[in-house]
Amino acid sequence: MPAVVLVGAQWGDEGKGKATDLLGGDVDYVVRYQGGNNAGHTVVIGDQKYALHLLPTGVLSPDVVPVIGNGVVVDPGVLLSEIDGLAERGISCERLLISAGAHLIMPQHKAIDKVSERFLGKAKIGTTGRGIGPAYGDKIYRMGIRVQDLLDPGILGKKIEAAVGEKNQVLTKIYNRRGLDPAKVLEEYLGYAERLRPHIADTSLVLSRALDQGKVVLLEGGQGTLLDIDHGTYPFVTSSSPTSGGACAGSGIPPTRLTRIIGILKAYTTRVGSGPFPTELLDEQGEWLRQTGGEYGVTTGRDRRCGWFDAVIARYATRINGVTDFFLTKLDVLSGLERIPVCVGYDVDGTRHDEIPMTQTEFHHATPVYEELPGWQEDITSAKTFEDLPPNAQAYVRALEEMSGAPISAIGVGPGRTQTIQIRPLI
Ligand code: GDP
Ligand code: IMO
Ligand code: MG
Repeated sequence: MPAVVLVGAQWGDEGKGKATDLLGGDVDYVVRYQGGNNAGHTVVIGDQKYALHLLPTGVLSPDVVPVIGNGVVVDPGVLLSEIDGLAERGISCERLLISAGAHLIMPQHKAIDKVSERFLGKAKIGTTGRGIGPAYGDKIYRMGIRVQDLLDPGILGKKIEAAVGEKNQVLTKIYNRRGLDPAKVLEEYLGYAERLRPHIADTSLVLSRALDQGKVVLLEGGQGTLLDIDHGTYPFVTSSSPTSGGACAGSGIPPTRLTRIIGILKAYTTRVGSGPFPTELLDEQGEWLRQTGGEYGVTTGRDRRCGWFDAVIARYATRINGVTDFFLTKLDVLSGLERIPVCVGYDVDGTRHDEIPMTQTEFHHATPVYEELPGWQEDITSAKTFEDLPPNAQAYVRALEEMSGAPISAIGVGPGRTQTIQIRPLI
């Protein structure tokens, strides 16, 4: 009954999509357990590139059942257009299951996400503008509308009336915007209900039975550890729990059933949106990483902020998630450098820190303490085994493994499905 969690170890965009896809052949269910269409997961299969936002990556593997767990916030319009887009490319989403307990992103959430960011001005979070925070806010505030409400037009109408009514007060009186028409919102969502009905299920029960039958379940996080609402760089985070603990709450699978936690770790660091980022490079080296690594947002198209590998963050991810294995991605991007700096600790106002400082203020003041490792010049994109890597690339991987506190069990050497060095099995 293996239940394996795959979690981003940095600020997202570590290559989770590629890692999930790689394991697709060995798993029966792939479950998204948090987040929504703020995620952007890229999978490259042959000459085809897929960008998934809300659908679990498992949808690209024909024998996998993709599941949207109760911890996800679902924008039904976006979900249906993603399903239609894949259908046009010959990929069926017929097997998709959506938890009846997942919450819906409503038009008022998207409107408030945008105006509240504008209101914050320079202090903005830099959200994806997809309504994620406001939808989770309503969930916690017990004002949320759930996927199961789509099945009962009477209830849906009442809930929309109450929720839109309240948010119209906020939109008109605080933000000086036009309110929404609840009748129009109801009509729109009833249309979605028709199409989504066959996919709605008690997914916790489905997954529990599958595990009883010895099936393999992969729990795929959106976002990354440092974007976690509890353990990330609050308030510059997303509004859910991508860390491994969130996999249980967001899927209905108990912690006692988790067998392995795979951390996805990029060979350098990126971040999108605002917030502290000690190893960020604001010079031409950062631009070089952005261009060489293709670091542009899949969801918003924004330039990703780029910096060197931060071992303090990686160690933190190991501790918070209980990482059993790392999948190191994008090692190929670093080819061609003479020396590669790696952050091994921070200097915070003259004091050395080997862990993330306790307070956000200190973290904002953290400057990296670097060690330099020798680089390699060879192209490694065709490497199939660890021994195929140049000695300095091997040493870089070993050094990162040592600093991060968990074994590196797979290495990405290119975006393609086959461009992976498997050191030990992940499932
Ligand atoms: P996710 O959000 O964690 O799924 O990651 P994204 O898809 O947003 O960003 C990762 C990017 O790196 C995508 O364009 C992937 O195709 C690409 N990628 C993943 N692994 C590798 C790798 O090992 N090498 C290279 N060069 N690209 C990779
Ligand atoms: P994947 O799945 C990188 C960031 C946003 C913003 C913050 C809050 O591709 O790793 P939100 O819209 O979630 O309220 O925005 O979180 N963010 C991501 N950054 N990759 C992602 O997803 C992200 N999803 C959200 O940029 O800083
Ligand atoms: Mg991404």
